[in-house]
Amino acid sequence: MKSKQMKKIAVFTSGGDSPGMNANIRAVVRTGIHFGLKVYGIKRGYEGLIENDIAELSSESVSNILQLGGTVLQTARSQRFMTKEGRDIAYANLKKRGITGIVACGGNGTFTGAKIFMEEHPDIQIVGTPGTIDNDLYGTDYTIGYDTAVNTAMSAIDNIKDTANAHGRTFFVEVMGRDAGFIALRCAIASGAEAVLVPEVTTDLGKLVATLNANYERKKRAAIVIISEGDDAGGAFKVVEQIRSLLSSKDIRVTILGHIQRGGRPTANDRVLASRLGMEAVKALLDGKRGLALGVVAGEVSYTPFEVAIKHHQRIHPAMLELVEILS
Ligand code: F6P
Repeated sequence: MKSKQMKKIAVFTSGGDSPGMNANIRAVVRTGIHFGLKVYGIKRGYEGLIENDIAELSSESVSNILQLGGTVLQTARSQRFMTKEGRDIAYANLKKRGITGIVACGGNGTFTGAKIFMEEHPDIQIVGTPGTIDNDLYGTDYTIGYDTAVNTAMSAIDNIKDTANAHGRTFFVEVMGRDAGFIALRCAIASGAEAVLVPEVTTDLGKLVATLNANYERKKRAAIVIISEGDDAGGAFKVVEQIRSLLSSKDIRVTILGHIQRGGRPTANDRVLASRLGMEAVKALLDGKRGLALGVVAGEVSYTPFEVAIKHHQRIHPAMLELVEILS
């Protein structure tokens, strides 16, 4: 069913920023204008919606942002939107302007908020684009920002490898991902790490010690262990604390990569994914779709209901874990 009534739409970014969000905003704005819509930008996600921080965006206003990390609309994790009172104010602000469609770029928290909001207000259509570095969203092979974050972390780990090899040291490198191990696993493969710890697999520290000690015995003096911040054994410092005395090499360092993984110029993969999904999100609104998280699965655009997307987790492929073990 075509949404003939729709004249005005808005776009916002919400939750943790991710490289490629700007490409997504640009695509939504330009596609909307292409189809004769007025397009608005909402600052700081749901927070700006409540504060009425909303402005019309022109095609020119999104020039030269495609290549930038962060988000020109800024972002937030809104506590107020979790209250009915906050959502009522947000709704009134949309009504005042006649905005009936929204593209929400973010992760599970963003989609959860959108689902509740649409249940309360059936006249509002929201579709989501997957903006998070964590790649933990169900219904898409990749999220916007994941590829950039992995490449940023990989190049930092390449640098660490230089000094690790020079000194014959073992580095425990902690990467982001919240409760998902996608960044860790891909980085481990791409940087040739000796081992990786991810939250999806119960960590066996005895096995890790055995792997590292076997490496030292083979005269491999340096080693890299990638630890996902959400791993059940704890972060990198906690892991080292538990196994230091059991390792036959004592020259150990810990590096926490932290927020450098969230910034930076998006890779071509992220720019293309964000642009494609921005265009498809506007088309979805025009087709009358609502409550769907967009993604790309096996090269094709996919639409997953918010309630399904937030209930499930993207799955770690066991062959990727095997790859680290065999190649280390
Ligand atoms: O969800 C993206 C992410 O960067 C996670 O990987 C990390 O756990 C979290 O956000 C950090 O959040 P904050 O920037 O609020 O500390």
